[in-house]
This record gives sequence, structure tokens and C-alpha cells, in this order.
Amino acid sequence: MSQETPMQPFAVDIDLASGAMADPDTVITRRASDMRGYYADADALERIIGEQHDPVHYEVFEKDIPEAPGHLRICVSKLYPGTVGRECFMTKGHYHTVSGTAEIYLCLQGRGFMLMKTKQGACLAERMVRNGMVYVPPHWAHRSVNTGEEPLVSFCVYPGEAGHNYGDIVEQGFPRRVYLQNGEEVIA
Ligand code: PA5
Ligand code: NI
Repeated sequence: MSQETPMQPFAVDIDLASGAMADPDTVITRRASDMRGYYADADALERIIGEQHDPVHYEVFEKDIPEAPGHLRICVSKLYPGTVGRECFMTKGHYHTVSGTAEIYLCLQGRGFMLMKTKQGACLAERMVRNGMVYVPPHWAHRSVNTGEEPLVSFCVYPGEAGHNYGDIVEQGFPRRVYLQNGEEVIA
């Protein structure tokens, strides 16, 4: 009876000051045009796409780790600063496909919020600031929001089997949005 060869251990250099991951295997790039349907002010998003030539909105730097039970997936998420109208730049947000899986976000740079919601209607925001860790429990959809002037960079760890379910967020959004009004953060 043959046994599967175990995956080889590896090391990765992550600059904890900037969040830069050396030698990522995959870089997911989301541009402004990938965010159609997510912001309250669709016209403002179209102006950004047109006038700024569809700028990069956020990037996710990953290592190739199996999406399977027992593994821990890691990534660095880098969300650029800015607003669409007055609404702060944010990630798409998702539930995990295997909903009962948690995630850890360790903020390395920038400031903002982790916006989280449940299917039962709860919605809350945890502050994200350098060296702060946010624990996203199982069953909470999560989206990061950048309210600062530099990129919001986080190191994330989640179970290999978790997966990403974006569909429910595209359809339902989050009950609350994060704005900048006269320089003040407003969650409404
Ligand atoms: O798994 C996570 O929660 C993160 O790595 C996110 O995927 C990342 O922040 C990008 O957000 P989203 O997947 O919602 O586009
Ligand atoms: Ni996640």
C-alpha cells in the first residue's frame, strides 16, 4: 500500500514593516472595474475607472498551499487608499465556502476596519491598525476597508478548505458602509 508523499516544508520572507512578501506564487489583482456593483455611488466608480485608467484597487499575495483540510492558507492583502464618492475603498468581501471556518488578520500597515456580518443580520466593524489582530470567527462574512492615506496591509491565515464565497455578498452587500466625511470615519 503506497503512502502519499507529504508536502515539503517551506519558508517565506515577509517584511513586517511593509507587508511585502518575497517570491509569492500567486498575485491576485483586483482593479477598480472588478468592483462594479459593490459601491453605493456607481457613477463615481466609473469616473475612477475612466479618468485613472482602471487603477489597481487591491492585491493579494499568496503561496501555493493546498486548499484542503489540515493545511493553513496564508496571504498578504494590500488594499490601496481612496474613496468612491465618500465611501472608503474596500475589498469585495466574502463568506468562506465552508462557512464554519475562521480567519486571522494581522494588520501590518495602514488603518481601517474589518467589516463583518452574519446571515442572521449581525454586522460589526473592528478597528484595523498596525500590529492589531482581528479574529474573524466561523460564519462571519468579512471585508476590509481602508480609511487611511496609505495601503492597508494585512497578513491573513485561514484553514485550507475554507474557500471563498463571493456570490452572497454581490447579491446582498453588507448592511453598513464606511465613509469619510470631512476627514472623519463614519460607519452608516
Ligand atoms: O481570505 C481572505 O479573507 C483574504 O485573503 C481576502 O481574500 C483578501 O483580503 C481579499 O479580499 P476578497 O477575497 O474579499 O476580495
Ligand atoms: Ni476570508
